Amino acid sequence: MSLSRIPKELHAYVGERAAQDDPFLVELKQAAMTAGIPQISIGAYQSAVMATLLKLIGARDVVEVGTLGGYSAIGMARALPDGGRVRTIELDPKHADFAEAWIAKSDVANRVTVLRGAGKDVLPTIADRSADAMFLDADKQGYSAYVEHATRILRPGGLLMVDNAFAFNHLLDESVQEPDVLAIRALNDGLARHPRFEGALLPVGDGMWMARLRA
Ligand SMILES: C[S@@+](CC[C@H](N)C(=O)[O-])C[C@H]1O[C@@H](n2cnc3c(N)ncnc32)[C@H](O)[C@@H]1O
Repeated sequence: MSLSRIPKELHAYVGERAAQDDPFLVELKQAAMTAGIPQISIGAYQSAVMATLLKLIGARDVVEVGTLGGYSAIGMARALPDGGRVRTIELDPKHADFAEAWIAKSDVANRVTVLRGAGKDVLPTIADRSADAMFLDADKQGYSAYVEHATRILRPGGLLMVDNAFAFNHLLDESVQEPDVLAIRALNDGLARHPRFEGALLPVGDGMWMARLRA
């Protein structure tokens, strides 16, 4: 059965059997809406998939590009052992302020640091082989450059996750030639034949790459 033929009832069934947002995360999302933060965070199902992947590789150190309100960063931090850390990069000061405030109130306040600035400026400051996993969820036109940073920042065997690989459902519609969609098509083709990464594009959320940096 093709993915597009999965009935929405089955989607709902799967979602209901993944971990749900706890009251803190529900409150965070409501506060973000009230504060005018865009409602573009990942969902609970994708967060559960990512947490499972992080636990499977024994991740302790994660780098994220695209914090928004801190929802995904908190979800990832909760998947790490004591002493683990998430460094999450955010360009928009309003989003960074909101995320810092809510991370400070969370159960993983000591594991998450918001790094302010653009991914292209902050990633070069992150040391080689200092992360077990990276999650790219920011400016789509920066993705290909971020993937190249990932080859340096991840440890061998590290995990790369990239969101929005289905380009907001425009991936296969060739009449859509917007720069973000073109960038995602280029990213998908590049990762599919990347000499340093091996992995698969998962039908999770808006499409998510799960790729391992070859040793
Ligand atoms: C889709 S949201 C991230 C959602 C978040 N990962 C979550 O699921 O909770 C994308 C975020 O990337 C930020 N952003 C956009 N361009 C950026 C850039 N060049 N560098 C860093 N962050 C950027 C936006 O301000 C926005 O907060």
